[in-house]
Amino acid sequence: MRLDVVTIFPEYLEPLNVSLVGKARANGLLDVRVHDLRGWAHDRHHTVDDTPYGGGPGMVMKAGPWGEALDWVLGSGTPDHEPVLVVPTPSGVPFTQELAVRLSRCSWLVFAPARYEGIDRRVVEEYRDRLGAERVLEVSIGDYVLAGGEAPVLVMAEAVARLLPGVLGNAESHRDDSFAPGPMADLLEGPVYTKPPQWRGRAVPEVLVSGHHGRIARWRRDEALRRTADHRPDLIRRCDPAALDRHDRET
Ligand code: ADE
Repeated sequence: MRLDVVTIFPEYLEPLNVSLVGKARANGLLDVRVHDLRGWAHDRHHTVDDTPYGGGPGMVMKAGPWGEALDWVLGSGTPDHEPVLVVPTPSGVPFTQELAVRLSRCSWLVFAPARYEGIDRRVVEEYRDRLGAERVLEVSIGDYVLAGGEAPVLVMAEAVARLLPGVLGNAESHRDDSFAPGPMADLLEGPVYTKPPQWRGRAVPEVLVSGHHGRIARWRRDEALRRTADHRPDLIRRCDPAALDRHDRET
């Protein structure tokens, strides 16, 4: 997968060099290219923002530099890569595991993280017309407002990269993730334990050392249900009890 980021803070994206994403790059599974938006701002101060039409607080990112930057990045592709432009914004569609899976199947993602009050609207309109509406996604990582879209890019890049074939050592390891597709889809993952069996007088739940796979699967599902009821009662309502029973029988 190719992943481009256009930003006024290229150094903010340095975490893409470490850990899982860094390893995926080193292994040739991910081709990450970070571009400085100011390279497409031609005045002496490399200005990328201006005051909003209609008044109001804050600044708006100018269409000019964004248009030139995105034209250049999108023009640097090869015919086998169709780009999807992702614009992080608190007013976008929610970033979910389902969307992460969808993005992980794309061969080329171009991220356009904004600062200030956002990017001049005409930029999204322009690329919706050029690429097609389904190839330009405005995405929110949660109902809170950050200072810019760079942290959301890091979040989305990691969620997508770990789904790419060959990135996680064990392909099974995201099967039971919270929100992974399947009968447990709407349940949060339960607690996990490792050695030693006793720590500060606290024992590992007996069932986990019983070697009884059926009982372990049942316990994990009960814990997942308990945690979901505690933390996300909204998710319990989406749960299908019959599918959970089938999952129990098949495990
Ligand atoms: N930019 C600022 N806040 C954001 C959020 N919650 N999601 C995506 N982009 C953002």
